[in-house]
Amino acid sequence: MRIVRKMAVAGLVLGLGAVSIAAQASDDPIETRKAIMSSVGAAAGLGGGMMKAEIDYVPAAGKAAIATVRAASLTFGDYYPAGSDQGDTGAAAAIWEDPDGFAAELAKFQAATEKAAAASGKDGPADLDAFKGAMGPVLATCKSCHETYRKKN
Ligand code: HEC
Repeated sequence: MRIVRKMAVAGLVLGLGAVSIAAQASDDPIETRKAIMSSVGAAAGLGGGMMKAEIDYVPAAGKAAIATVRAASLTFGDYYPAGSDQGDTGAAAAIWEDPDGFAAELAKFQAATEKAAAASGKDGPADLDAFKGAMGPVLATCKSCHETYRKKN
């Protein structure tokens, strides 16, 4: 399942034209989780841009942003093996010190993306208001996880 999921994420990322696919195929968990988060960042950039009306809203783009965060929320937590707190990573030590707390943040992220994906439907949210309703709660989960589980830069 992991390989299939990774390919799905990579495909979506390709669609957004955002991230190097080489990193997705890497065996390095740090590179992989950073690439997944980078795709989340790209989806948030696209979604935020449409919410602020800097980018015209199109249902297919709304769907791409939501599908990207959905896939990322399902795979992101798989790349925190012991020892991967060391290296070129923005992951905070709290992830390994408080795995239950991190799992709870992941669960919030997954619950928000699940609702968004359900609201997205086959063709994406029909209009900008529907997209805001679906994507807004997903964007609200970034900060609460980063606050504790991502290093401050
Ligand atoms: C469950 C926790 C969690 C949630 C939710 C989360 N992030 Fe992250 N994010 C992290 C962690 C941990 C890192 C650091 C990963 C590393 O460097 O190993 C990170 C890193 C990033 C990065 C840097 C990626 C890179 O290239 O190094 C971006 C951009 C990002 N997050 C955006 C977002 C956005 C936007 C959202 C909300 C839509 C979000 N994140 C939600 C935990 C989370």
